[in-house]
Amino acid sequence: MNPTTTNGVCILGHGITYSRSPMIHNYWIKKYGVDSRYGICDMPAEDLPDFLDAIRQGKSAGCNVTTPYKQAVIPFLDAIDDTASAIGSVNTIYRRDGQLRGTSTDGAGYVGHLKNIHPDLQLKGAEVLILGAGGAARAIADALLQSGCSVIYIANRTLQKAREIAAFQPDTIKPVAWDDVQSTAGLVDVLVNTTSLGMVGRQPLVFPLDGTRPGCVVSDIVYAPLETELLAQARRLGRPVLDGLGMLLHQAVPGFQLWFGIEPQVTGELRALIEQDLKSHG
Ligand code: ATR
Repeated sequence: MNPTTTNGVCILGHGITYSRSPMIHNYWIKKYGVDSRYGICDMPAEDLPDFLDAIRQGKSAGCNVTTPYKQAVIPFLDAIDDTASAIGSVNTIYRRDGQLRGTSTDGAGYVGHLKNIHPDLQLKGAEVLILGAGGAARAIADALLQSGCSVIYIANRTLQKAREIAAFQPDTIKPVAWDDVQSTAGLVDVLVNTTSLGMVGRQPLVFPLDGTRPGCVVSDIVYAPLETELLAQARRLGRPVLDGLGMLLHQAVPGFQLWFGIEPQVTGELRALIEQDLKSHG
């Protein structure tokens, strides 16, 4: 962000190698004729207080937050909403009534994409298996519970991390040992991979889906590659699928709305633009 542009926005992080957020937001900025520009703000932790104070003072409309600052920014904000508080993480910062506020849109992005692609899926009472227990798993579990899901199973290589998430809502979140995950997979309506397995440059996720129900939606939050091994397998078995790119696009919607008062549309054209970029940069 260039703080001299009062309506400028950016993604805040450190060691940001590549981000698709500028491409997404600048597409909307142009489409809706907003006087702004979305950039990348890569800075060391000691610069955070001054940077955030500049937003508070109105030198910018706000920012997105990525690693390693999704938790670190919280002490510098005046308020965070229930979602950010539940998952202990902020990915969107905006100004209201002179206050600097934070929220997390990752979980809403996942659920928004799920509802968009599978509108007939009944989330109320649904059972879900989440693979992985990092920040994304927390955000998705919280949003799915808000949408009425009855049980969320969280399977993780390090079981203790799944137990820590379950401790917040022990009646509805159940930790599952990585070795027991296959039997749980046969119980659920939705399965989502939030681990980094399957991502370009990482090991593939080896997860047989034969035991899943025929109608089980198989989803991956990995979007590079767009078609992970998990999704390819699901397609071969005829399971409904959900890729990771839609979550990336939908999580950006609330931020744009909070900064500029316009609810932007996730269009086929925008998706094609990012898909093209994924093909050229991986
Ligand atoms: P994020 O915050 O983006 O969700 P993260 O906190 O780094 O990312 O979480 C990555 C997830 O991938 C974790 O659940 C991690 O499991 P551990 O908690 O056991 O580390 C999981 N993961 C990474 N490599 C893995 C592997 N080789 N096998 C199984 N799970 C793996």
